[in-house]
Amino acid sequence: MRNLLSMEHLTNDEVMMIIERAAQFEAGEQSVLDRTYHVANLFFEPSTRTKTSFEMAERKVGCTVIPFDAGFSSALKGETMYDTVKTLEMIGMDAVVIRAKEDEYYNELLEGINVAVINAGDGAGQHPSQSLLDLYTIYKEFGSFEGLNVTIVGDISHSRVAKSNATALRRLGVNVRFLCPPEWAGDFEAHHSWDELLEDSDVIMLLRIQHERHIVNKSFSKESYHEQYGLTFEREARMKKHAIIMHPAPVNRDVEIASELVECERSRIFSQVRNGVFVRMAIIETILKGR
Ligand code: CP
Repeated sequence: MRNLLSMEHLTNDEVMMIIERAAQFEAGEQSVLDRTYHVANLFFEPSTRTKTSFEMAERKVGCTVIPFDAGFSSALKGETMYDTVKTLEMIGMDAVVIRAKEDEYYNELLEGINVAVINAGDGAGQHPSQSLLDLYTIYKEFGSFEGLNVTIVGDISHSRVAKSNATALRRLGVNVRFLCPPEWAGDFEAHHSWDELLEDSDVIMLLRIQHERHIVNKSFSKESYHEQYGLTFEREARMKKHAIIMHPAPVNRDVEIASELVECERSRIFSQVRNGVFVRMAIIETILKGR
């Protein structure tokens, strides 16, 4: 692996290699990088988890993190993504982690750039490190993927998490179903009611409503979304005994999920965040060793 751009580029073997390495890091193993590498995190969209988690992972595997403030960079003067990354390469960076609002922004970095590029989210495209940490969370819970029922609920068309996870989970033998209001299905076939989904789901994966990517819809009501598509106490009580709840976060409490369920016994929402550090350590180490 020389870059991490999209889950569509990863084989099942590469996914399992990251999961196994993340498990070793979680068990306390140290990284085996041969020298100090320099990494910068370029976040042109807001982030709490992904940015901080990458920075923690980079430091834990022994990288030097070079600060980059996207909101105070020459991108604001119109510098292209290519010129920004090439500049950081010339300064001595070995890898860049990028989040940007344009889908597939990384296409302009495929030629002429010699640093590793790790996609931390491209518009409504892909979010591969989130997907890998979600896969790690599921694998830790069930020990395999084959035959699991995973229901992804919410803002499917705007969700890079939904797209990344659907690609990877289906390839690993998971039965993936979508549940959302008809106008949020995008190109996916989706259910529009919880019937037939709630009681046989092994994983209910809730998605954040991405108001920032919606054209203003005055008819949208948080209360009616919660009533029709949210995970309420009544619905949680009907879930399978060992089924788990996931959400990439940030959570809109009492919209996608009843606030008190965020830390209920079934919820893995905060475990996902913890798992993300080990998975990102595995991603960074694998990519830097592979170059
Ligand atoms: N899950 C996720 O990508 O969260 P942040 O936007 O806080 O990074």
